[in-house]
Amino acid sequence: MTLPAATAERLRGAVLDGLLGTPKRLPSAYLYDSAGSALFESICELPEYYLTRAETEILQRHAPEMARRMGAGALLVEPGCGSGEKACMLLQHLQQPAGFVPIEISTSALEGARRLLRERFPALPVHPLQADFTASFTLPDVAAASRPVFFFPGSTLGNFDPASALGLLRRWRAMGNAALVGVDLRKDPDTLVAAYDDARGVTAAFNLNLLARINREFGADFDPGSFAHEAIWNASESRIEMHLRSRHAQTVRVDGQRLEFRAGETIHTENSYKYTFEGFAELARRAGWRLTGQWTDSGGRFAEYFLEP
Ligand code: TRP
Repeated sequence: MTLPAATAERLRGAVLDGLLGTPKRLPSAYLYDSAGSALFESICELPEYYLTRAETEILQRHAPEMARRMGAGALLVEPGCGSGEKACMLLQHLQQPAGFVPIEISTSALEGARRLLRERFPALPVHPLQADFTASFTLPDVAAASRPVFFFPGSTLGNFDPASALGLLRRWRAMGNAALVGVDLRKDPDTLVAAYDDARGVTAAFNLNLLARINREFGADFDPGSFAHEAIWNASESRIEMHLRSRHAQTVRVDGQRLEFRAGETIHTENSYKYTFEGFAELARRAGWRLTGQWTDSGGRFAEYFLEP
């Protein structure tokens, strides 16, 4: 993936700080290089990973109603749009949309989304925005004359700690006329852990790919075989944690420095927070939104929330 220089520099700094800190951590944005993005697409099709199927079911069934609530002339804005596939499900039903603003940190993903949208909706104005949506960004000029509506599916909000999630929702409240947010529901730990530790080991490969990327980009010498993927349910924080656990004591060289691992020590690589309906309603309220609609799939596993000022 191609990154703007300043973003690449900031990510590099975060990688080194995370590895040299205690406990060891890596920024989750680093999971999505081109190999990681491809592995994530495969995760979405795994039998254990119910999230994508559940959300697709909700969007398929309720997109007409969601589009009606967004109103005519909406400018759909999707931070972290990936392929842009989910936005199509809404755009199909939106009445005279003012346009679509896909936001991606990666130019290649952004280009893919632009191509898909042009193919499916040739007449729709698309305004791709290359930005790290966790930093502040400015919407294109067209936003001033239309009604920006934020779309944030995939439980990506759950990949932020609650304080950061609150910050994102607040910022979008200041910029938008409405928001549609898809978040995974809290449920029994066995189902949750299986979704992040599948039998075929695709999620393990996704997590371990981080080490290959750091070897490549930092001239590091991680042996991915010396680390084990782990998904842990942290009930008090209401989150799935992904870790890479060192199988034995070892020393790894990263960016000219020696990094010591104790046997069993982990690198914490990702969180996926799970919200109850009440928990999400409280978060939205604190961010200054009114929760005016919610939908769930037939299995009651995932929820889509409609927020208005
Ligand atoms: N937002 C998704 C989720 O929390 C995507 C995701 C992030 C993910 N990291 C992951 C999926 C690791 C599987 C494994 O589920």
